[in-house]
Amino acid sequence: MERILIVDDDRSIRELLSMHLEERGYGVVSAGTGAEGFKLAEETSPSVIILDMRLPDASGIDLIPELRKRAGETPVLMITAHHDMATTILAMKAGAFDYIHKPIDIRALDVALDRALEVRRLSRGTDFLSVEAQGAVKLDDIVGASPPMQQLFKDVGRVAASRATVLIQGESGTGKELIARIIHSYTAGGKPFIGINCSAIVDTLLESELFGHEKGSFTGAVASKIGKFELAEDGSIFLDEIGELSQNLQAKLLRVLQERELERVGGVKRIPVRARILAATNRDLAGEVQAGRFREDLYQRLKVVTLSIPPLRDRREDIPLLVEHLLVKINQRLHKNLRRVPRETLEKLMARSWPGNVRELENVLTRAAVLSQGDLLLEEHLVEASRPEPRFAAPPPTVDGRMPTLDEVERAHIERVFAMTKGHKGRTCQILGISRPTLERKLRKYGLEPGAG
Ligand SMILES: Nc1ncnc2c1ncn2[C@@H]1O[C@H](COP(=O)(O)OP(=O)(O)OP(=O)(O)O)[C@@H](O)[C@H]1O
Ligand SMILES: [Mg+2]
Repeated sequence: MERILIVDDDRSIRELLSMHLEERGYGVVSAGTGAEGFKLAEETSPSVIILDMRLPDASGIDLIPELRKRAGETPVLMITAHHDMATTILAMKAGAFDYIHKPIDIRALDVALDRALEVRRLSRGTDFLSVEAQGAVKLDDIVGASPPMQQLFKDVGRVAASRATVLIQGESGTGKELIARIIHSYTAGGKPFIGINCSAIVDTLLESELFGHEKGSFTGAVASKIGKFELAEDGSIFLDEIGELSQNLQAKLLRVLQERELERVGGVKRIPVRARILAATNRDLAGEVQAGRFREDLYQRLKVVTLSIPPLRDRREDIPLLVEHLLVKINQRLHKNLRRVPRETLEKLMARSWPGNVRELENVLTRAAVLSQGDLLLEEHLVEASRPEPRFAAPPPTVDGRMPTLDEVERAHIERVFAMTKGHKGRTCQILGISRPTLERKLRKYGLEPGAG
């Protein structure tokens, strides 16, 4: 029989709780003081301890660690006074599993108790993924046992032997930047690695970021500035989100790649480019080329070697390894001690679809680490991290360089949302903030009706 220890100086509460718990089939022992509680914790090894915050001989909070220890790391449910947030926080910090407010709501107690028993069951289980910290985990370590990742590692080794331009493709969060850094470290370790996100800043600024500018070349250019290409020297320049590059900069970048030389904005001197070029995108660049949004000739230059990182959902067998690796990293970073992942929790993680890939997994685990107290990764802490709203990107200019018309923008936007909802008209209306008939009309207008080709 599961035994529950109640430590509370209020006799009526002890009796009320005992009655209820016995009805539910638990054995109950109770104590009116902390000292008595210690004794019973040791003698009866209860499965859960229900502990009052105020006791005649001590504060409940101070007792938590010792009580848990004597009972064999048993979960403790605190009974706290309503509105006493500060002590509630202290209790949780001291290692209480959960708390129940006075006046005690029996249903809330049952819920908390069931959770505590479940956690205890899991923590006593033996089927775990154990997280072992083997020395310090290097931030740049990459793990993967699945065939596509193994192949990727081989390819990385191959391209690291040359200085060829590499295009890294993969969904958001699959590890594109990580791969770029690894390629760099195996090719030109010690030399500069300069990354720049091509989507983060406006066009004119990006141009001067990439190529630098001369003093006085535009308003605000009070001094001349070295661009990223020059900063990278004979190391690597990492052009992240290259798919977002404007037509104007695509043309400029193409010239730089062709001629291996650049001119600073407003400058005349030709400066040789020695850096190795690594580029990444989460777009389907071939598709972008077909759609006329990305220059074919630039694409050809970039894809000398293409590495594709598969989404996490296509290599679920990597998840246990990643969980282990990421937890070691997170433990180090947050000074936490998550060491055990119950097999069933791991299976739940493997079953998720992970649209945000490894980054999402890392975020979810980080959140769990913050929330958890013991060494056990609990399913209830694995809340889906909120994903950032898709950024509203300005429509890219068309192939011929002119800005798109309002109709073109509207069509593209409807298309995008329609794709996002997988053709769900109701959701599409909701997101677009228009009525169903309006949507129907627009779909017909733009020939976007499914099947209309
Ligand atoms: N195979 C892996 N092994 C270990 N850590 C990984 C792996 N893949 C990704 N990560 C980690 O996941 C996080 C996201 O990786 P990274 O930033 O390289 O992704 P990304 O593809 O550039 O994402 P985004 O498109 O969002 O910029 C990083 O913390 C990285 O260290
Ligand atoms: Mg990235």
